[in-house]
Amino acid sequence: MNIIEAMKERRSVRTFDGEGLNPQQVVEIEKAIDESNSPFGGKLCIRLKKFNLKEGYKPSTYGMIKGAEDFFLLGIGSDEASGLSAGYRFEQVVLRAWQLGLGTCWIAATFKGSDFDKGISWPDGEELKVICPVGVAEKPSMKEKFTRLTLGSKNRKPFNDLFFYKDFKTAVPDHNQFREALEMLRVAPSSTNSQPWRALVDGDTVHFYYKPKSPASVLDTGIGICHFHETEKFYGHEGDFSKKVTLRVPRKICDIL
Ligand SMILES: Cc1cc2nc3c(=O)[nH]c(=O)nc-3n(C[C@H](O)[C@H](O)[C@H](O)COP(=O)(O)O)c2cc1C
Repeated sequence: MNIIEAMKERRSVRTFDGEGLNPQQVVEIEKAIDESNSPFGGKLCIRLKKFNLKEGYKPSTYGMIKGAEDFFLLGIGSDEASGLSAGYRFEQVVLRAWQLGLGTCWIAATFKGSDFDKGISWPDGEELKVICPVGVAEKPSMKEKFTRLTLGSKNRKPFNDLFFYKDFKTAVPDHNQFREALEMLRVAPSSTNSQPWRALVDGDTVHFYYKPKSPASVLDTGIGICHFHETEKFYGHEGDFSKKVTLRVPRKICDIL
């Protein structure tokens, strides 16, 4: 399965077979963690931890996750660069897992941190902000089906509501060079399926923005940019990232004459 197929087919998985990862799968997943990278800097640590369900361990994800033994734990710094990197880097691992036949579900809100990182220390400035089960998917439970329905997880906003050309009124032309990469960004996962990303195409440049909807919006943005970049790399296109911060002055205070 190539990366485009993985992006199109991936869905969040919350019900697992209860078997846990086998040693070969652990090796592959650890390799995916080692190979993941980000242009955004910041502080991020991705760990894979096994919990023994048979010894009575019950992950406290408010009953949302069933049958998972293996979890990623993400220690993330508190600045924007760290959030972008976490989204961008960890989504590479999520997509690799899907290519290996393994399901995952980003979880940023519905877990009790202390249960997961008991006995683990994080580098200075990082704390556990995301967990993610990984394993072989089972038929979704009723609860999982209900969650997906409530979040509208199957749906995405229309392309022309998210992406624009030269100004924020004009649609991206049908044959624009970035159309497929933007389409892959559109199908990316986001917290509560909020899809906060926006993009403006201008010649050979794409400007990325996000509408802050929750603290997870920065993670979502990193995830979306990862999908965009993976598509461009798949087609052998080259490019660079640069960051521009736009400061908006809310009102004019005075003129100096
Ligand atoms: C940063 C982030 C945080 C998320 N947090 C949760 C969560 O706390 N609980 C949960 O059940 N799903 C969570 N999700 C999964 C989203 O609800 C899911 O990605 C979205 O509904 C789209 O569905 P899909 O992933 O199946 O395409 C999260 C996703 C992302 C990207």
